[in-house]
Amino acid sequence: MIMTELHSKSILLGITGGIAAYKAAELVRLLVKAGYNVQCVMTETAQHFIGAATLQALSGKPVLMKLWDNTNGDGMDHIRLSREADAILIAPTSANFIAKLAHGLADDLLSTLCLARACPLAVAPAMNKQMWDKPATQRNLVQIRQDGINVIGPASGEQACGELGMGRMLEPETLLIELEALFQPKLLAGKHVMITAGPTYEPIDPVRGITNLSSGKMGYALARAAWEAGATVTLVSGPTALTTPPNVRVISVTTAQEMHDEVMRGIKKMAIFIGVAAVADYRVAQVAQQKLKKTKTTPTLTLEPNPDILAKVAALPKAPFCVGFAAETEKLSEHAQAKRATKAIPLIIANRAQDALGQDESTLILIDSNGSHALPRQPKLLSARQVIKHIASLL
Ligand code: C5P
Repeated sequence: MIMTELHSKSILLGITGGIAAYKAAELVRLLVKAGYNVQCVMTETAQHFIGAATLQALSGKPVLMKLWDNTNGDGMDHIRLSREADAILIAPTSANFIAKLAHGLADDLLSTLCLARACPLAVAPAMNKQMWDKPATQRNLVQIRQDGINVIGPASGEQACGELGMGRMLEPETLLIELEALFQPKLLAGKHVMITAGPTYEPIDPVRGITNLSSGKMGYALARAAWEAGATVTLVSGPTALTTPPNVRVISVTTAQEMHDEVMRGIKKMAIFIGVAAVADYRVAQVAQQKLKKTKTTPTLTLEPNPDILAKVAALPKAPFCVGFAAETEKLSEHAQAKRATKAIPLIIANRAQDALGQDESTLILIDSNGSHALPRQPKLLSARQVIKHIASLL
């Protein structure tokens, strides 16, 4: 998982009745670990699926369940709780609760505070596929979306009842990513963004090859940040050990030529192209079909140049806004400025290769026609969000 921002936002986590309620425990743990204050509110039926003591221990706060708790101050928990929250997330959300939201019912603590809220509300549905497919549920979903409620998931797959289909709640890691996106400004709404990431691998023979050191972390963080900003994102990725970010279309490639071909195939509808991949500049001219054998003489490899993907995209007649990366071991700004000029791109991002490779943090310098702008050393996701903000300001 890409490292997330540490902050003290308050999340009101609602839990309704469904077997997926057991996943709420893991979700609370992840939220707390990411720095959120979490207040759990359970419905009556949720209490049949998970114990309040579990959620209390993980969130560090008593779990609230009753609308009519006259031991608490003025008895207006529903107003106080909804004002304290930066967002409400309900996971799992049952078909019944979706119906209540659609109709504005307020007959328990959770539904009442949803109606009284002044903050964003996201729901993660979880139910049997027949319940999901019913016209009534689908009607209610249309209604709550129209009312500005974010519906996150569900996924399709194996269900607790043994059936297969739509209705599985998304995994807690994905819910956390979706929740964080709620807090990001939609600076790239409606835009298509393509990003290259990771290394390329150029074969010598079936078992050997030439590659560059690159974990892909920066490119994947940028893909997530661009999606958070409302863009439709295509990530053309060389071989990495990273998990595919949710909501991003990933095209997996191996060689620079494959990366080039996939980029060119999709580039026409892109508004922004960000080349983060550590593309091999050369490939082996003659790839051996069989494994090469050790000999007494020193072998020689003849190399030929790969296409410069970024330069080719920037030279297209209707080029998207192009951003390059320059990982340098010395003379950072000087080399980056030169690359920006030769590739004819509006923005280049420089970093010291030895500080960034494989790390979870980066120290970036953004260089454009207005000069250079240094970002602090920070988790790559935070750098990525600032890069996206900068790109949006230049568009
Ligand atoms: O020319 P150099 O490799 O130093 O430039 C780095 C930038 O160019 C990166 O943004 C990288 O993704 C891109 N690049 C490319 N195709 C290549 C080589 C580099 O898109 N063949």
